[in-house]
Amino acid sequence: MLKAENLRCVYTSGLIKTVKKTAVCGVDLEICPGETVAIVGESGCGKSTLAKMLVQQLAPASGDVFFDGMKLTGMSWKNLRKFMGKIQLIPQNPDNVVDPKWTVERSVSEPFVICGGFSKEEISANVDSLFSEVGLSAEHKTRYPHELSGGELQRMVIARALALKPELLVCDEATSMLDVSVQAFIVTMLKEIQKKRGLGLVFITHDLEAAKAVSDRVLVMYAGEIVEEGKDVFDRPLHPYTRALLDAVRYASLEVVLPEETGALPDGFSGCSYYRLCRERTDTCKEPQKLRDVSGKLVRCWKPK
Ligand SMILES: Nc1ncnc2c1ncn2[C@@H]1O[C@H](COP(=O)(O)OP(=O)(O)OP(=O)(O)O)[C@@H](O)[C@H]1O
Ligand code: SF4
Ligand SMILES: [Mg+2]
Repeated sequence: MLKAENLRCVYTSGLIKTVKKTAVCGVDLEICPGETVAIVGESGCGKSTLAKMLVQQLAPASGDVFFDGMKLTGMSWKNLRKFMGKIQLIPQNPDNVVDPKWTVERSVSEPFVICGGFSKEEISANVDSLFSEVGLSAEHKTRYPHELSGGELQRMVIARALALKPELLVCDEATSMLDVSVQAFIVTMLKEIQKKRGLGLVFITHDLEAAKAVSDRVLVMYAGEIVEEGKDVFDRPLHPYTRALLDAVRYASLEVVLPEETGALPDGFSGCSYYRLCRERTDTCKEPQKLRDVSGKLVRCWKPK
């Protein structure tokens, strides 16, 4: 259904845009209908950047995204609009997608208005059905976003995202701002909706347990790259970084840090991105590392355990 090839994103910042940061570096990804793919990795490793490129909110520096075989990258906005209902992003912060001056009903109606071709009665019936699907009641319709709880606000965002019958939902830490019991409720609801509608789901999270519980496949990201990918990544971690990530959760260890925090890699270094922090490094790790198949999983390390 969705396929990404060699996606790369370079942010520029500073007064004259001379500071460059490669946030995503050569990511390949494929998501099949009805499949749930979890993406995990520490803060700043490029998860949200990747999500934005998948939903065409951000143009990659290079690489392409395909949906049902159609190349979305580089498509004119007019043509892209036809696909945009099919791929929806549920962002880290719901405040980014709701207008504080609009009632909940107006916000959930908006996709139908933008899409066009719906009568007032059809929009109202569709909104009722979406409300019931995400467990909001009629009393929520006339409220404003600040009059909702965090869980209700996120349900409203999900209702909006479901409006135009998407085939793929990209959930970027969609529950991270909620308390644990509400998180579990929203995740269960998303899984039920996914099953009922046969949706593909990209589930970006810091929560390794949740990633394991909801997904068919897990992608581990480090410094903009996928370093390990497979079905039982957390039961049989092969990459040193995946093991460090699991240890960080198990022992609340502080050893998982970004390269910038302990000094940058030498200029022109093209070897393993985990080189400086890896206890198992050897001179061979100074060579570029590619994702390769090891016992049915993809691993970016020349000597996976
Ligand atoms: N607009 C921007 N301009 C410059 N740098 C950016 C921009 N957005 C993100 N970055 C940088 O790109 C890197 C990846 O950011 P991204 O938001 O994708 O990380 P993330 O994995 O989603 O982190 P988190 O788990 O904290 O949400 C970070 O180093 C971040 O500082
Ligand atoms: S390639 Fe080398 S430095 Fe990189 S993770 Fe593997 S052992 Fe560690
Ligand atoms: Mg993020």
